[in-house]
Amino acid sequence: MDCGPARRGGSRAQGTPYVERFVPYTDDRRQLTKDTILVTGGAGFIGSNFVLNWMKAVGSPVVNVDLLTYAGNAANLASLNGEGRHELVRCDICDAETVGQLLHKHQPRAMVHFAAESHVDRSIASPGEFIRTNVHGTFVLLDQAKRYWLELSAADREVFRFLHVSTDEVYGTLGADDPAFSETTAYAPNSPYAASKAASDHLVRAYHHTFGLPVLTTNCSNNYGPYQFPEKLIPLMILNALEGKPLPIYGDGKNVRDWLFVEDHCSAIRTVLERGRVGETYNIGGNSERANIDVVTTICDLVDEMRPRNGGGARRGLITYVQDRPGHDRRYAINASKISRELGWRPAEKFESGLRKTVRWYLENGEWVDGVRTGAYREWMERNYGERKEL
Ligand code: NAD
Ligand code: TYD
Repeated sequence: MDCGPARRGGSRAQGTPYVERFVPYTDDRRQLTKDTILVTGGAGFIGSNFVLNWMKAVGSPVVNVDLLTYAGNAANLASLNGEGRHELVRCDICDAETVGQLLHKHQPRAMVHFAAESHVDRSIASPGEFIRTNVHGTFVLLDQAKRYWLELSAADREVFRFLHVSTDEVYGTLGADDPAFSETTAYAPNSPYAASKAASDHLVRAYHHTFGLPVLTTNCSNNYGPYQFPEKLIPLMILNALEGKPLPIYGDGKNVRDWLFVEDHCSAIRTVLERGRVGETYNIGGNSERANIDVVTTICDLVDEMRPRNGGGARRGLITYVQDRPGHDRRYAINASKISRELGWRPAEKFESGLRKTVRWYLENGEWVDGVRTGAYREWMERNYGERKEL
């Protein structure tokens, strides 16, 4: 497994320990780097948006630890090439030794943990990797964070935060008239993905309760926006609509999700990091509940408007109902009143304007799209949709 720096700092021979760039812990070093944050999964969809956003809004150095799985893409960060304040390190979060070395070398004031396996359908097809990365990986990070934190001066210990990025899916599913999920809703995860995130949330809580590690947890609804891997609903439907391919709707299409524009998620995370109360969890949502079928018809109309089809008819005609996802959660809805009341955060983007921006981004970034739709992507498409019967 390659755990060397992905950019800047050159290559290293396979199997050589990650030591050549390790700088021993000294007070001088800490003085120089006290603004740094360490982000995990910062080459994925939300993580890369967060890093780009952080550079503009805050601008302090970021060490970006990412394994660059099929979902991680260094091209998302291409605009930071040559930017000395950002370093992408290819590393598995399950590799305790390297994670420990990176913490000691960079002396971050915070860790923001995005790295995860994140697609529910993949967690149904192959749950093992979800347990490894989401549960064991989070444990490794917490344990290394604890060791690092205990070595800090009292003043630095006060400042340090471990922010864990999680999902509303840990709360399970809602009926049409149920109240939205709040921070006190009981956990009831239904998919292997949701169960692995729930387990990680519990570990985060335990490291605070038992060891005093200053943690924060955010549970967010479905994100959409630029750089989302096109296995998820919104980018998949935009690209299929553009290319005149079938638009596969699971079940009756009436499952409801609450949608949040990714930049709003990034601003919420920054807010919680700076002002959240240690040990607390904060729900983050977009106040935009939509049924899947409504999301997809809106995408069809936007693509028709931006790229009219010569003689092919309206893209709504491409909608195809297919066999449902097993255990498919019916409805997610977020009550985000705590983060709004305590920290003054609210989403800035309306779903309709955010979706329009997102469709435009995918239409204008064909090169990025071609870069992520590799052989492995096509294999997944075949595996997930090939055997799904049309209804
Ligand atoms: P993503 O799948 O797009 O990106 C995940 C990133 O983690 C990738 O860059 C991947 O290379 C990296 N990664 C995976 N395994 C790793 C490992 N073992 N070591 C190091 N890096 C590894 O996911 P996303 O949609 O950006 O989600 C980010 C986080 O936000 C996840 O924790 C997810 O549970 C959470 N979340 C996502 C959503 C959503 O709608 N996408 C909503 C709420 C919460
Ligand atoms: P997805 O983007 O996978 O997010 P999540 O499962 O984490 O909510 O799916 C969003 C919704 O869209 C979900 O109800 C499943 C549905 N869906 C389809 O109907 N067809 C598809 O091809 C995909 C990928 C999802």
